[in-house]
Amino acid sequence: MSHIIVTGAAGFIGSHTVDQLLAAGHLVTGVDNFRTGRRSNLNGASASKNFALHEFDLTTPGAFDHLLAETRPDAVIHLAALVSVQESMANPDLNYTLNLHATHLVAEAARVHGVKRIVFASSAAVYGDATERPIRESTTKRPISPYGAAKLASEAILLGHAAAFGLTVRCHRYFNVFGPRQDPASSYSGVISVFERRFREGKPVTIYGDGRQTRDFISVHDVARANVIAATRSGIGSGVANICTGRPTSLLDVITVFRAHYVGSAAPSHAAPRHGDIIHSLGAPEEASAALDFRTEVGVEAGLQELIHSG
Ligand code: UD1
Repeated sequence: MSHIIVTGAAGFIGSHTVDQLLAAGHLVTGVDNFRTGRRSNLNGASASKNFALHEFDLTTPGAFDHLLAETRPDAVIHLAALVSVQESMANPDLNYTLNLHATHLVAEAARVHGVKRIVFASSAAVYGDATERPIRESTTKRPISPYGAAKLASEAILLGHAAAFGLTVRCHRYFNVFGPRQDPASSYSGVISVFERRFREGKPVTIYGDGRQTRDFISVHDVARANVIAATRSGIGSGVANICTGRPTSLLDVITVFRAHYVGSAAPSHAAPRHGDIIHSLGAPEEASAALDFRTEVGVEAGLQELIHSG
């Protein structure tokens, strides 16, 4: 049994990571400031005697440092973040504070208190609008948003700490994550969460472009499992890996699954492609397979069925 701290524990990916850690018998301490995380995401976890929750902001001076001094965890899974690319454009300063400065504080506290491992939520956004297919870890990183830039800089900070101070750091570049508990708050939320809500409410979805654009959609259950492996398996070295399926799915494919369930639903409406939208985004999963022995297990269709039935 390991003791793992999960930052952003009440978030979409965080709460699933907490659930899987608890199911595997680990002791989990969650941290969240509830800026975008939701208490209801932790309903299951809160019933476990192996789970404790601390509510504070990682940038509160000394707060995380104090928690590590007190709890001395084996690893930190750092998922707390400003999660919206659009919000990072509207407020680059807040993006800097929550995505980069907070990560530096986590790295420093881990160094001071001898935490052996950090798993970090990076993003395919570090690649910007790269057109290579599939995108490999070696693909040129050219972020096109403050969000992507902060994720890339955070990787550098963490890996610098790993090299200088001997802790193990795993940076996970998540592709398009979907599944239960994803917040469809705005039209810029993950497209599957937006579509799921529209179908459930009997409203037509809007397709920006012709719907043939593809993404590497990965189930949150697979993403959480990658986090658990990276935090708990022995013999893992530092590095960066795409967390993706390696399989492209078009929006039209996604809509076909929804329409088969919501028989008689309104036909999708079409709008102009979004400014800056990329047509295809596909990750190469081989590095995660080699470094973590991680392979995805939930296909997009099965993941969509689960989402539809959990709503
Ligand atoms: C992701 C980010 C986005 C960012 C972009 C580039 C998320 C959820 N999105 O977008 O903020 O600008 O990377 O770094 O992190 N779509 C529709 N109808 C909808 C919603 C979306 O057709 O109602 C389309 C989009 O135009 C896009 C595709 O669905 O072509 C996927 O959209 P999205 O889920 O936002 O993912 P990314 O495009 O990868």
